[in-house]
Amino acid sequence: MFRFGVDYYPEHWPEERWETDARLMQEAGFNTVRLAEFAWSRLEPSPGRFDFDWLDRAIAILHARGLQVVLGTPTASPPPWVMAMHPDAFRVMESGLPVSYGNRRNYCPTHAGYRERSRIVTQAMAEHYADHPAVIGWQTDNEFGDRCYCRHCQAAFQSWLQHKYSSLDALNAAWGAIFWSHVYTAWSQIPAPLATAAPFGDGSHNPGLALDYYRFMSDQYVAFQHEQIEILRRECPAHFITHNLMGAGYDRLDYFDLAADLDFVSWDNYRRMQWTFRPEVNPSEAALSHAVMRGLKQKNFWVMEQQAGSGGWQIVSVAPRPGELQLWAHQSIAHGADAIIFFRWRTARFGAEQYWHGLLEHDGRTGRRYQEIKRMGAELARVGAQIAGSEVRAEVAILLDYDSRFAFQIQANNPAFHYTAHLHDIYQAFHARNVAVDVVAGDADFSRYKLLVAPALYVLSETTARRIEQFVEAGGVVLVTPRTGVKDETNTVVNMPLPGLLARVCGVEVEEYDSLPEGVSQPLAFEQPGICDGASPHARIWCDILRTGDAQVIARYTQEYYAGTPAITANRYGAGHAVYAATFGDASLYTMLAPWLLKLAGVEGTLTTPVGVECCVRWQGERAIWFLLNHTAEERHVTLPAPMVDIVSGQQVDAAVILRPRQVLMLTT
Ligand code: GLA
Ligand code: ZN
Repeated sequence: MFRFGVDYYPEHWPEERWETDARLMQEAGFNTVRLAEFAWSRLEPSPGRFDFDWLDRAIAILHARGLQVVLGTPTASPPPWVMAMHPDAFRVMESGLPVSYGNRRNYCPTHAGYRERSRIVTQAMAEHYADHPAVIGWQTDNEFGDRCYCRHCQAAFQSWLQHKYSSLDALNAAWGAIFWSHVYTAWSQIPAPLATAAPFGDGSHNPGLALDYYRFMSDQYVAFQHEQIEILRRECPAHFITHNLMGAGYDRLDYFDLAADLDFVSWDNYRRMQWTFRPEVNPSEAALSHAVMRGLKQKNFWVMEQQAGSGGWQIVSVAPRPGELQLWAHQSIAHGADAIIFFRWRTARFGAEQYWHGLLEHDGRTGRRYQEIKRMGAELARVGAQIAGSEVRAEVAILLDYDSRFAFQIQANNPAFHYTAHLHDIYQAFHARNVAVDVVAGDADFSRYKLLVAPALYVLSETTARRIEQFVEAGGVVLVTPRTGVKDETNTVVNMPLPGLLARVCGVEVEEYDSLPEGVSQPLAFEQPGICDGASPHARIWCDILRTGDAQVIARYTQEYYAGTPAITANRYGAGHAVYAATFGDASLYTMLAPWLLKLAGVEGTLTTPVGVECCVRWQGERAIWFLLNHTAEERHVTLPAPMVDIVSGQQVDAAVILRPRQVLMLTT
């Protein structure tokens, strides 16, 4: 069943209103509501005294209107009494300062007392709702994240290290602690990597220590979540468990680890937020997030918070234009969402998020946004069952590596290099050609794919290197970019030429490199006809200077002391090819390389569409549902391979399609 619904806060509104809300939700075609993830103070007004009556009444009203419920454990925002009970449970920032009461996400995930409160409230909710006919599943906490640097975390880090390294000798060797005489002689001496260790802003902790700390902090949230999951699985075996993650951009948690414990992943999909204030929203950014979220468990996901209006805490963002809310929601579906839950139902009149707009206005009126989503609800009532569970099939994968991502947070290598932006530069090249891409971990089954992109695989394990090599040997095509294979898993620079463990498969060795100042770039000269006709992609940020063995030269640098030396190479290896792009190009470099790589790998595109029109396919067995999404404010013409059928209207659609501004079509053959 396709889930369509809304995030609702009955505790914010008078009880007399609840029936009206439930009726309007039903009329909008909603079947699912998320509740309670910020209601701790109402659920447990004082330690151990629980009040579920109000929530029971709210759920009963919703259920009578055919709505089912996902409950959030409320631990993301503790009531004041919890923090008064545990004043040392406030999260400590990298600066060494504790956060104070006022916002949310203010707790330390390690703190034993906080963990106990988390288990107590989870247990009480789980027992109360285990057999409730309306409740179908759980969301743990809300948007886990934020590293803590408190003394409890420091002590837990020391135990984590003891478990990992067994001996201080092993730890000192792994980190190269002899550098600056940081040789530890007791576990209790090991610090958390606070910013205060770098009074001159040079920020340099031992990279081995810092990487371990980032891994440790990620593990702490996974462990915090696991305690809730254990309770929920025991008490509510019939319910699913998910968590709302934050898309491709969030980089403080290893989302693969966090997702491993869940039945499926959910994420919160926002566009026009105050910090991305701009007229045109690039659809490839959300698409990348969808690909990352789908890749975490290599299965469909929920959007637990789909944008319902202007965003805004202090500043109000641009109003979503007519058609945009449904367009963005359909884009989520096109990329593998099996549920769209809008955030939020009614715009709050009080609290920090007064300007984060819901489907209803502050005064409870239904307006343009509600009507638009209601129309979408009516459509989904007809076609949702055909869509739910159908899958996105990709032959291209991009490898997302959290060790590398964390390590770049410690040493950016070049101030203009941003791991997520690099991922997006590459992703958008495939997105623009409507080629489905999975974003996967280093231990994923690569044999499902024909083309694998390994962007800046900075920390490279022997296992992953071997798996990439085997993938190419068996006929796959891999694209490798700079700063790959630089570090081993201890965040120590490898004792061999770069790209380290991938040098053999790439057929190149990096003799030296040039880290470019911001704004400096140079055109690349392409040797092979047909790859870069007309376009002139530039090298920027970083230039590896290569010695090539058997690898074929695809493009060369044109400036500096390395003018004329290879910048892009392709190496035959076994039955496949390894392409080494020795510079971080601008997005146009990948846009240009993509068709050539796809051809080399034998991947066919779905459909060529004009700029701003996206085409995605979801498969139900052999039946394909095509989503055509016009992200522009203008008409767009698309030519289909043959006439198709609009699954909403049942009407035949001509091969020459005219899409209205922001129109979405769902088609089948
Ligand atoms: C996040 C949170 C929500 C809400 C929205 C809007 O995604 O999960 O609780 O705060 O942002 O700010
Ligand atoms: Zn802490």
